Amino acid sequence: MTEKNKKTVLITGANKGIGFETAKQLGAMGFEVFLTARNKGNGETAVMKLKRKGMDCKFIQMDVTEISTIRIAYEVLSKSIEHLDVLINNAGIMPTSSGLLDTTPAVMHNIINTNTLGPLFTAQTFLPLMKKGGRIINVSSSLGKISGHASDYASAYSISKTALNAVTLKLSAALKDKGIVVNSVCPGWVRTDMGGKNAERPVEKGAETIVWLAAEAPLEITGKFIRDMKEIDF
Ligand SMILES: NC(=O)c1ccc[n+]([C@@H]2O[C@H](COP(=O)([O-])OP(=O)(O)OC[C@H]3O[C@@H](n4cnc5c(N)ncnc54)[C@H](OP(=O)(O)O)[C@@H]3O)[C@@H](O)[C@H]2O)c1
Repeated sequence: MTEKNKKTVLITGANKGIGFETAKQLGAMGFEVFLTARNKGNGETAVMKLKRKGMDCKFIQMDVTEISTIRIAYEVLSKSIEHLDVLINNAGIMPTSSGLLDTTPAVMHNIINTNTLGPLFTAQTFLPLMKKGGRIINVSSSLGKISGHASDYASAYSISKTALNAVTLKLSAALKDKGIVVNSVCPGWVRTDMGGKNAERPVEKGAETIVWLAAEAPLEITGKFIRDMKEIDF
């Protein structure tokens, strides 16, 4: 079991990219970190890297599109901790971009299941471990902004992140009485497998606001869309 005062965090999609960097930064701050993703080999390699730096972390295999694996991960987690302080819904996909009219039903279902419903079902499943002061962070994108966007670029992805922001707003309202805060984050355009080599931000910067929301942001902030530690319009 976790030391009594140690903060705990579960991060989805944490075997690489922004999720892994977030795990690294929170691990360095003394959090007990649970990294999750589909690929177990990559997950165990990621955990090994953090353990070598003296961090307290574990990998739990979980596919956010498969409710049975989310439930198994919850069972595993509830055997090793008494409470979860922070849930970071970071796992996401951005399939090769095509215009909305060429997006197949299979692609659309997969992207909504991963980027929108995955975070919702993960939050619902892990909530019994969360208490007053808990924090849920949904990693969204400015492509999901509904204001000021009239382009057909990455439309399926954009729709999934707009809907994720709606999940943030509704979950925030649903959890207000429990004192659990829920926010969306835009990490910016970040150099990862998803963002590509030409992206403007290093991964450290991409994780910065997520880490701030997980560890330091005032608990009055809920139901907001945050970029660079400041509120932006949905
Ligand atoms: N990079 C950017 O420029 C950028 C910009 C705005 C927003 N974002 C958002 O930031 C988040 C992280 O992106 P990233 O750039 O770090 O992407 P990435 O490098 O491609 O990493 C994605 C992570 O998600 C996991 N994942 C994918 N599908 C999953 C599923 N069904 N279940 C569980 N895990 C799954 C992957 O591991 P497995 O394949 O092993 O499962 C991997 O760990 C995403 O939500 C993305 O939309 C990124």
